[in-house]
Amino acid sequence: MTSLLRRAAVGVAVVGLAGACLAIAAEEPNLTEDQIREFLLHAKVVQSHQTSKGVTAPWRLTLTDGKLTHDAAFQSIEEFKVRADFPSRTEFNFRDSYEFNIAAYELAKLLGLGDMVPVTVAYRWKDTPGSLSWWLPAKLDEEERQKQKLEAPDANAWNKQLNRMWVFSQLVYDTDRNQTNMLISEDWKLWMIDFSRAFRPYSKLLEPQRLVMCDRQLLEKLRRLDGNEVLAKTKPHLSKSEVKWIMARRDLIVAHFEKLIAEKGENAVLY
Ligand SMILES: Nc1ncnc2c1ncn2[C@@H]1O[C@H](COP(=O)(O)OP(=O)(O)O)[C@@H](O)[C@H]1O
Ligand SMILES: [Mg+2]
Repeated sequence: MTSLLRRAAVGVAVVGLAGACLAIAAEEPNLTEDQIREFLLHAKVVQSHQTSKGVTAPWRLTLTDGKLTHDAAFQSIEEFKVRADFPSRTEFNFRDSYEFNIAAYELAKLLGLGDMVPVTVAYRWKDTPGSLSWWLPAKLDEEERQKQKLEAPDANAWNKQLNRMWVFSQLVYDTDRNQTNMLISEDWKLWMIDFSRAFRPYSKLLEPQRLVMCDRQLLEKLRRLDGNEVLAKTKPHLSKSEVKWIMARRDLIVAHFEKLIAEKGENAVLY
């Protein structure tokens, strides 16, 4: 297949977890996480244009290594405000940062959720530091799904993905898990992108009411999550304090589910 044809073939999702390979559709190149990383870091940028959705409008770059041509999202936002006013809230010490995209991917992997976040690396483009993420084969985003009133063919499987997403969102205190940051592929796989407004400095949960059910493995990984490992894997993108807040929220999430289990029984809470 020529690289152009490969590029034209959408409907793909390939993510390697810990070196393993998980090809979701035949058209996408069958690459391990390391190969995707290598491609993102070393392939040549041959085209670029700014995306139109969202607030910061990151760049969609087309990269090629001579054999494979594929797109990636380049985000370089780095903004700090002592006070940021939003329609329904005010945030102090607001930070919007590409570094949180890299940290979110690394943290997701530690929790076994690496297949819900695109492979993301630290990257410099045109002398600007940023994050570079594999471009996902999204068929639509959650906003479009709701507008078109489309339902996932397997509601149960869809809800399980949503629940995993909400647990992760609480852990990273994501203030921007809006519907355009939830991408859906042809096979109804849910992907999370855009964590530039996550990792807020709080030892509390943003929306505990979202935590209704939890993946058993995810809860186990949360219990075992080690702050030193989080710090090492997300280095230098998260501060010690940011990791400390993650761990405080981890404790709250685990306690929340333990309480729910005590009240409702394990089978009503865990899947
Ligand atoms: N890795 C990606 N794969 C596919 N589409 C992406 C990817 N990253 C961004 N996009 C698209 O670009 C839009 C804007 O990117 P995003 O990272 O959400 O920045 P912002 O919302 O700050 O503008 C997203 O809503 C999505 O439609
Ligand atoms: Mg966005």
